[in-house]
This record gives sequence, structure tokens and C-alpha cells, in this order.
Amino acid sequence: MSRKKIIAGNWKMNKTPSESAALAIACVAEFGDIADVETVICPTFTGLAVAREKIAGSKIALGAQNLHTEKNGAYTGEISGDMLKDAGCDFVIIGHSERRQYFGENEETVNKKIRAALASGLKPIVCVGETLDVRDAGGTEKLVRTQTTGALAGLTAAELSSMVIAYEPVWAIGTGRVASPAQAQEVHAWIRDELTQTLGADFASKCRIQYGGSVKADNAKEILSQPDVDGALVGGASLDAKGFAAIVKATL
Ligand code: PGA
Repeated sequence: MSRKKIIAGNWKMNKTPSESAALAIACVAEFGDIADVETVICPTFTGLAVAREKIAGSKIALGAQNLHTEKNGAYTGEISGDMLKDAGCDFVIIGHSERRQYFGENEETVNKKIRAALASGLKPIVCVGETLDVRDAGGTEKLVRTQTTGALAGLTAAELSSMVIAYEPVWAIGTGRVASPAQAQEVHAWIRDELTQTLGADFASKCRIQYGGSVKADNAKEILSQPDVDGALVGGASLDAKGFAAIVKATL
């Protein structure tokens, strides 16, 4: 089963709207015509409108970094899936480790947010991954399997057909410490096995699993060539269009 690779840039809380415009323009110039690999940029909420305008007509898709579980209502400061969809988003990142760490997100909220994303026609990029303590204690497999099944609880293969999973070991995010290709492959295979057990072999063979955590131009090719690594979720290196383009091109 060949799965189309997908490279997404998570800009996190970086770039003002004017800076987002400049970065989006640079992304279009560097890789906007590449269609053999799916590319997504995920600016901040305030950067979405301008990024949408700048990537129009290119092959680059737009994503958001978070959404609320409800469609609308008295939730001051929050943004719903319908708002993101109308703002031009195709994708939304859910359950990033920074959301889990700083905003108390867990399997239950992740599950609700996946449902909200799907209800608004957004494709969820669902993040899982272990801390260094868990890895050192030998608990990685159990944790990522639990995070995966917990996130997807009660959802069907048909409902989840657009979902992408991102395996992001917390100890590799923003640290410059990248998982070895073998470490990444091992965990991706566990996640795919968990998907096979819960949603069936056909679903598991089609579902794309990205790796995330200090992916850079110089380590991308080796990681992306692992059989169960179907792309990358890139933080720091996505803030530079040339460096991000090199990661995109490393999949080709
Ligand atoms: P990083 O972030 O590439 O800066 O390590 C990855 C992520 O958090 O998605």
C-alpha cells in the first residue's frame, strides 16, 4: 500500500500576520507547485486569513493548530471547527504535546476535538508521543497504544478516513534531539498495529503516520525513508521556507 507522504509545518505561536504573509509567500515560491507530496502550513489563528490569501492557487493546504470541542457558544477566547473551515482550513492539529502539557488536554478532550473537527469537515492531525521518563522506564509502546485507542474511541474507520496521526516523542520536540530512524519506525509500527487491531487492516494500511520532533533538512531523508513513516510534522524548521522546502523535497 503506497501512502502519499504529508509534510505539515506547525508554526506554533510564531509570526505576526504580516510575518505570516511573508512566510506564506516564501513557501509558495519554494514548494508551492509540488504535488507528489501533500504540504500543509499551520499558522496561528490570526495568521490564517493572510496565509490563505497568499497560498491561493498553489498546492499548499492550510491547517490550524487547535480547535474547541463545541461549534459555537459562550467560550470566550475559543475558536470552533466551523470557523476554521470557513477561514479556509483543511487540517487541524489536535492533542499536540504542548496542548497536553500546558492546557491539560488528554485522551478525552482529544477524542472530543477529533469529533468536532470531523463534524466541521476538517482533517485531524492527531499527535501522540511519550516523555523521556516514559521512554526510559520502557513504557513507550503501552503509552502510544493507549493514546491512540483513547483518542479514537467510539469512532469508525469510515469516520476517521481523513485522519493523520503524528508520532512526536516529547523529548525530541524543539530539543534538537531527533529519534533515530529505527526508533521512529519501531513506534510507527506499534501505532499501525494498534490501528489494525481497533479499526482493521484496510484502515491501518491507508492511515498516514507522520513523525515529528526536530525534523530538519539534514535528517529528514533518513527518517522519511522508513516504511511506516508517511511524512513529518515540523515545528522550528517550518519557520524557514527554504529549510522546510528541503524537508518537503526529501520525500521525493
Ligand atoms: P520541532 O517541533 O520540529 O520544533 O521539534 C515539532 C512539533 O512540535 O510539531
